[in-house]
Formats: sequence, C-alpha cells, structure tokens
Amino acid sequence: MAEYENLLEIKNLSFSFKTYGGTVKAVRNVSLTLRKGEILGIVGESGCGKSVTAQCIMRLNPEPPGFFEGGEILYKGKDVLKMSKAELKALRSREIGFIFQDPMTSLNPTMRVGKQIEEVFHGHKDISKAEIHKKVLNIMRLVGISDAEKRYRQYPHELSGGMKQRIMIAIALVSDPTMIICDEPTTSLDVTIEAQILDLLLELREKFGTSIIMITHDLGVIAKLCDRVVVMYGGKVLENGTVDEIFYETAHPYTYGLMNSIASLDTDKNSVLTPIPGTPPDLFAPPKGCPFAARCDYAMKVCLEHPPEYTNLTEEHRSACWLQHEMAPKVDLRGKRKETV
Ligand SMILES: Nc1ncnc2c1ncn2[C@@H]1O[C@H](COP(=O)(O)OP(=O)(O)OP(=O)(O)O)[C@@H](O)[C@H]1O
Ligand code: SF4
Ligand SMILES: [Mg+2]
Repeated sequence: MAEYENLLEIKNLSFSFKTYGGTVKAVRNVSLTLRKGEILGIVGESGCGKSVTAQCIMRLNPEPPGFFEGGEILYKGKDVLKMSKAELKALRSREIGFIFQDPMTSLNPTMRVGKQIEEVFHGHKDISKAEIHKKVLNIMRLVGISDAEKRYRQYPHELSGGMKQRIMIAIALVSDPTMIICDEPTTSLDVTIEAQILDLLLELREKFGTSIIMITHDLGVIAKLCDRVVVMYGGKVLENGTVDEIFYETAHPYTYGLMNSIASLDTDKNSVLTPIPGTPPDLFAPPKGCPFAARCDYAMKVCLEHPPEYTNLTEEHRSACWLQHEMAPKVDLRGKRKETV
C-alpha cells in the first residue's frame, strides 16, 4: 500500500483549447488524488470541466486544439504527460478503463460487439486468441449480458441502450484495469439498470480493489457509491472532502447551491428544487476573482478581485472560499440549505 497509496495524483493541472473564438480555459489548477480501492466522485454543472479533467488522465482530449498549460498527472508515481506513446498505449489498454457518457457514439456501428471488446487486446502478444475469447465471454457475463455467445456476434444497433452501455463497461473492464473512470455512465439508462450498474461497480471494488472515478450530476449516485467527492465549477475545484463532509459539513456556497438545485435518486418528489440563478463563468475570459462570485449570495468585494486560496478544514476537507478566512464575517449557510439528499 505504501508505495502508491495515491494511485493517481493530479497536481495543479491546467488544460485549454485553442478555438477560433479564443482560448477556452477548460481546466484550471485542478489537484486531486485517487487512492487504491477508492471511489472518488466528481460533481458539478455542465461545462465545468469534469470530462476534460478525466480525459487528461489518459490523454484522450484532442491535442490540438487542446493543450496542457501546466501541472502533473502522476499515475503510480509516473507522469502521464511525460509518457512515451508505448507507455500511453499500455496505460489505456491495461491500467485504466474509461466508460464514456454516450455508448451510442462510442461504439463502432460496423463491428460486432464481441470483436469490439476483443480489440482491447490488439497488439498484446502474451495472450492467445482462445484466452481472449474466453475472457471476453466471461466479462460479458460479469456485466450482466445474458446469452453472451449470441450477443458477441451482434452489432450495436441490435442491442438496447442498456445493453450497449454494458458492452462499453465490458470494454473498460476486460483487461482487469487497476482503475476505471466512469463519465456519467448511467445518464441514458433507466433507474433499474442504473442501480444494477452501480452495484456492479461496488462489487468490482469489493472483489478486486478496483479504484474508480465516478463523474456524475447525481448526488444520489455520489451518496451510494463514493468515499470522497470533488466539487468542480468553472474549470476549478471549489471544494473536496469525504462524502459526509461534503453532504453534512458543506463549506462552499456553490456546493450548497448544487445540493438545492439537483434532483437525486432519493429526492422527495414534493420537495422544491431551487436552481442556482445565473450562468457559469465564461471560460474564454474567466473572472479574475472567485469564479462563483457573480452568482454567490455572499460575494464580498475581495471575491471579485482575488481568487480565494484553499482552506484546509480537516485532513480531507478543503474549500476555496473567502468565507473561510479567519477575518471573514460568519454566515450560516446551513440556514439556507434545503435537504435534497
Ligand atoms: N474539443 C473541445 N474544443 C473546445 N472546447 C472544448 C472541447 N472539449 C471541451 N471543451 C470545453 O471545455 C469546457 C469543459 O467541458 P467538459 O466537457 O469537461 O464539461 P463537463 O463538466 O464534462 O460537462 P457535462 O456535465 O455537460 O458533461 C467546456 O466549456 C467545453 O465547451
Ligand atoms: S469566495 Fe466569495 S464569491 Fe466565492 S463562494 Fe466564497 S463568498 Fe462566494
Ligand atoms: Mg462531461
């Protein structure tokens, strides 16, 4: 455990895209860690940089137009940004599995799904065709695909949305990865299949100690699955901590807003969800102070001028908000919060 207690360590990562309209500063100074056997949630509104951050880990963002502005991504102590092509290939095909948001666009419509799972082993010389075939059928059964032999020969259009997502999950899992990144893997699925897939992820962690990053809008998913949570906004991490700290000791006004605005699995259908008024910051020209200042009920003059530093509230919990400054007025955020999770 000691050698790589942090399986993944992202330090001050900044990633931008050059476009005709200017440079989109998609990820700004993001730091986070993922430990062995841990499930880490990343939550935040659309466009806040969750997918771009996750894709940086495997260098999956198109470069160009994307480019790294700074930072390090250490996987098992080795910087992904300095890896050779061969090392990156091994990272993608053996170490980390990625489950994408939309199975419809990620599967090849012209290839049988079994073959698409087998593709993961392309170029692997230490495993025979028969072993690969056996592994593929096993993984298809593990992810809950019945009649695996028949499904193996089918094309994506012959499968339901839930089945396609299971194929995507099988692709991510077939090489027994140490880590899986799930980018809103259940968004397009109904609640029963969603629950089955979440149970499967928990089982993988339990049985094989797989580390998981779970990107989601759904705080119910976070509560069910995750050990720790990272809250992102405008390309930055605004708060992170254990699930209990984020839910019950919420420190950042944005996290409060998020909790009141997002429906979750357990949301009482009669409870009123209050959207956060306003829109996220323009990532072409991010505000120079706190990125949330334009929408924050507690914004002070300093918030507009200077970005808040992180304050460590506990060993795991930190928040980037001027309210945590020792000289700041004491406000009771809790009074404004509505219970939604
Ligand atoms: N290829 C690209 N070219 C230009 N801008 C991009 C590209 N990919 C992402 N972006 C921009 O980077 C920012 C962060 O996008 P990202 O996809 O990470 O958001 P997200 O948090 O995953 O949102 P969602 O919840 O909708 O999936 C957005 O402003 C997006 O428009
Ligand atoms: S730093 Fe200021 S604007 Fe930003 S969340 Fe805290 S109080 Fe609100
Ligand atoms: Mg996304």
